[in-house]
Amino acid sequence: MIFMTLLQPILVTCGLPYANGKCHIGHLRTYVPADIFARSLRKQGQEVVFVCGSDAHGTPVMVNAEEQGTTPEELAKKYHAHFDEIFKKMDVEFDYFGSTDSQSNHNRTLSIVNALIKSGYVYSMKIDLAYCPKCSRFLPDRYVEGICPHCGSHARGDECDQGCGKHLEPGEIKNAVCNSCGTEAEYRSQEHFFFKLSSFKDFLLDYLPDLGGTTNARNYAIKWVNNELRDWCITRNMEWGVSFPDHEDLVVYVWVDAPIGYISFTEEWAKREGKNWEDVWRSDSRIIHFIGLDIVYHHCIFWPAMLKGAGYTLPSSIVASGMVKIEDRKFSKSRGYVLWVDEDYFGHGFHPDILRYYLASYTSHTKDLNFSWEMFQQKTNSELAGSFGNFLYRTLSFAYKNFEGVPDAKVSSETMNEIKRAIDANTASINNYEFKQAADHAMLLADFGNTYFQSREPWKLIKTDKNKCAEVLKNSLQIAKALIILFEPVMPGLMETAWKQLGFTGNIHTVSYREAFIELENGKKLPKPGIIISKIENSKIEEMEALLTERIGGTLEKETEAQRANETV
Ligand code: MSP
Ligand code: ZN
Repeated sequence: MIFMTLLQPILVTCGLPYANGKCHIGHLRTYVPADIFARSLRKQGQEVVFVCGSDAHGTPVMVNAEEQGTTPEELAKKYHAHFDEIFKKMDVEFDYFGSTDSQSNHNRTLSIVNALIKSGYVYSMKIDLAYCPKCSRFLPDRYVEGICPHCGSHARGDECDQGCGKHLEPGEIKNAVCNSCGTEAEYRSQEHFFFKLSSFKDFLLDYLPDLGGTTNARNYAIKWVNNELRDWCITRNMEWGVSFPDHEDLVVYVWVDAPIGYISFTEEWAKREGKNWEDVWRSDSRIIHFIGLDIVYHHCIFWPAMLKGAGYTLPSSIVASGMVKIEDRKFSKSRGYVLWVDEDYFGHGFHPDILRYYLASYTSHTKDLNFSWEMFQQKTNSELAGSFGNFLYRTLSFAYKNFEGVPDAKVSSETMNEIKRAIDANTASINNYEFKQAADHAMLLADFGNTYFQSREPWKLIKTDKNKCAEVLKNSLQIAKALIILFEPVMPGLMETAWKQLGFTGNIHTVSYREAFIELENGKKLPKPGIIISKIENSKIEEMEALLTERIGGTLEKETEAQRANETV
């Protein structure tokens, strides 16, 4: 789909990170492509509002707070600050980064829940819930583990995270065991509130086929709705969260107030900017959610039904990425198959843009993405440093040495056509959420530039035909200009440096694609260029691989020790 530029801003959001632990490379697969997308839309002349925030509530935060001997509030604050910092370091530039524990999110959640109650979409019912007799408390969601009733895998209380991936309703899990003390759970009856999701079946079957975004999200959701759509329990026996109206002992389920964050963050942004949030959420606007495949159910089923029931604008697109693997193994924090962005990446001196490029260009957005240090080195050295970096450096340094700047000549129509072809293909791919294709189209222009430069042999022409040489350099520099603009959404920091090397003092981030067609000024002085993307040494990659092996080995040892301990008990 090619975007028509709209007068209204397009809202782009990212799945909210749970404020319960550090940022890892799996998270980045949601945030980096969304940031590339937002930057590219702006370069196409489209106004964008890009919001996100941390997900402060729910048992993911409570369980970890308990483990770390702190309060959920403190833990949520700590990791909110952590994600905010990592996003800044990664150049993922949100217009607003909020928290679902903000007053405005509490208010907006209450207002939506009340609207659903008023329209008759909420009812109460007694259900049997897992209860730990030793800890004397109910065991919502991640406080309990057991067996998935659908596929028989080991599962968490709220989700079959290791098996079929299904959302589990309270009380559904079999052989429930208390997560903190290991005691077999009992079942006790409790009154809870349910959202009549089943009555939205026709609506969803009508809405989903036209939903934009990636086909994986749409197709999974349609299959689930066709299979069965049960009502959804939206309350929990907890204190941390948004209180359920008139029931002090209950909070709403985290998957109610978390996506509502998308609305309240827009409200908070609008308030700060003097804009109207209803232009996005109560009008005919475009709303695009970036998420990972693991939370498609929540975004394609719960969320549109809630919005429909309460009278808000529905998402126009859900863009779901495939999951991230480490060295071809399933991502697993406990087994050591993880890359922590801060300590394992920045801590070793790597530039954020190299990882951004890897994430964008490794594979199609909907496929699983494998991170391997060897591949990371290969892509960096051959594509970034080799093809693109080499073209920039040889062009800039030749122009600097022989012409002290932009030579006096005209850009050929062949060059302009090539630039146009690259920009059209690149933006069409981005607008289709095909980030790999987009990066490949940009890289093809770098290859074209290299071949052009190589075949015209300007190092010979400078001695035999200076005018001809000036022409070759002028064309090459224009290609360099287009490349820097094309790659800015993927590598904003490095392209900022490259832009300066091309003698520009302005802000590359606000430069539109159109500017790629504006000819560089003849005689413009260029500063002395430097290499902006260096190759990664083998020794560095060996060091990184050794660290990973050590971590994996460490967890294997721990596992076997724990097994041995269990066996002797
Ligand atoms: N808090 C929920 C989302 C609420 S949205 C209203 C959540 N948080 S998360 O921290 O687990 O994930 C944040 C984002 O990162 C989500 O888009 C999720 O899909 C993505 N990923 C987290 N781990 C991932 C991988 N290992 N691989 C790919 N993406 C994954 O879910
Ligand atoms: Zn217990």
